[in-house]
Amino acid sequence: MRRPVIAGNWKMYKTQAETRAFFEAFRPLVGSAKHCDIIVAPPFSALAAAVDAARGSAVGIAGQNMHWEREGAFTGEISARMLVETGCLGVIIGHSERRQYFGETDETVNRKTKAALEAGLTPIVCVGETLGEREGNLTQTVLKRQFEGGLAALTPAEFSRILLAYEPVWAIGTGRTATPEMAADAHRHLRDLAATRFTAEQASGLRILYGGSVKPDNIKGLMAQAEIDGALVGGASLDPKSFAAIVNF
Ligand code: PGA
Repeated sequence: MRRPVIAGNWKMYKTQAETRAFFEAFRPLVGSAKHCDIIVAPPFSALAAAVDAARGSAVGIAGQNMHWEREGAFTGEISARMLVETGCLGVIIGHSERRQYFGETDETVNRKTKAALEAGLTPIVCVGETLGEREGNLTQTVLKRQFEGGLAALTPAEFSRILLAYEPVWAIGTGRTATPEMAADAHRHLRDLAATRFTAEQASGLRILYGGSVKPDNIKGLMAQAEIDGALVGGASLDPKSFAAIVNF
């Protein structure tokens, strides 16, 4: 039985004050939630405030990106070690917005994933096809490339520590969710890839989150699919009530 994970990706939203206000409202709403792991990924500037505000609760804090080097002359970047020091337990890697706007490739995803694991962070590795790729019948090809490239050279022990997020690019921030069946199909394909690359046992332990316009009113249907182990939530994670409703699916 895979334990569900509900993760919020705040993207470039919320100041420190807004972060504190969020947690004040959110904590009592998920106080009794024992059925899943809860993760919130605020922007870098609000990480320390989030760690502080979440202390003593079941909510883990994650970064949204990181550099693969330990330190160096990389203006504007931050390392896994810096996220760990701030109190982060995880980090989102290879989000489609990073691939689309900031030149993230399967190779950088791979380097970052390895560096995150080495530092003790849980990487949430994102994969997903664009609309053109889906319409061109390339979904499985793209997922295979991203899975194999992004997770290349991981040891079985490392692989057992990652979370995978399937986020079809056409469903992100568009209000257009993949149907639960479409998402489950993609998850099944990813699990098959994991079984081929590692073992059937490892594949069945892999937690795969769905992301793309997850809302309080569609989470139940998604989570009813055995293949869907949780959600990576953007817009609907910004409001404490709606994110709590998703957590309490
Ligand atoms: P969305 O974003 O829920 O706003 O579609 C999901 C994501 O980008 O992780």
